[in-house]
Amino acid sequence: GKGKGKGKQTAATANTGGKKGIGGVTILSEKKLFLGQKMTVVQGDIATLVADAIVHPTNSSFYMGGEVGSQLEKVGGKDFQQEVQDLYKNHGALDTAGAAICPGHNFPAKYVVHVNSPGWGNASSIPNLEKAVKNILSLADEKNLTSVAIPSIGSGRGGFPKQAAAQTIVRAIQNYFVSVMASSLKQIYFVLYDMESIGIYTSEMAKLD
Ligand code: APR
Repeated sequence: GKGKGKGKQTAATANTGGKKGIGGVTILSEKKLFLGQKMTVVQGDIATLVADAIVHPTNSSFYMGGEVGSQLEKVGGKDFQQEVQDLYKNHGALDTAGAAICPGHNFPAKYVVHVNSPGWGNASSIPNLEKAVKNILSLADEKNLTSVAIPSIGSGRGGFPKQAAAQTIVRAIQNYFVSVMASSLKQIYFVLYDMESIGIYTSEMAKLD
């Protein structure tokens, strides 16, 4: 396609309107956020996404046994597994809803933001998911990143109902950009995998203004 090989190229700038973007992801919808950021819902495998960082929902010890984690472990191979081990050693365990970042290997994203994904089923589940999203975006800003791809955190191994995860994540992203004065981030991707999530996220996006 157009602009091939340019460092600044993203899936969103490559295509709009349900077409194939770079890396085989499909763009479903797009919204502008408070500070002018674009939030784009895409369908596809997060391991193929072209972005500064992709998000790995994990537990406090960087376990790669969630759905996204298993995929990143497989695609990232030994290089990435070693990177995650080193991160765990240097950083220590993740706090509740805490996030930490390391380089990616063997997939297009330069970095991976690991986030301690809250489980479903108690009073803190939703507040902790909100906190997790805020921590991801703060860390991305600290590192001066321009784009980050977030899967439907909590709604795989974590057991969140897809609707609850969708509403919470969308609200948390919106709130983040309303609450900060400035941000290096220009593009947030929601990376969806299953048809149920795609329907839900698209309708949640339509409610934003
Ligand atoms: N790309 C994008 N999204 C994907 C992919 C993929 N390749 N594979 C699965 N998904 C979707 C799932 O359908 C789900 O909706 O990502 C969402 C999150 O699923 P998980 O990765 O399982 O994350 P989560 O539900 O937060 O569970 C994390 O797993 O690491 C363990 O026990 C640890 O508590 C942690 C849990």
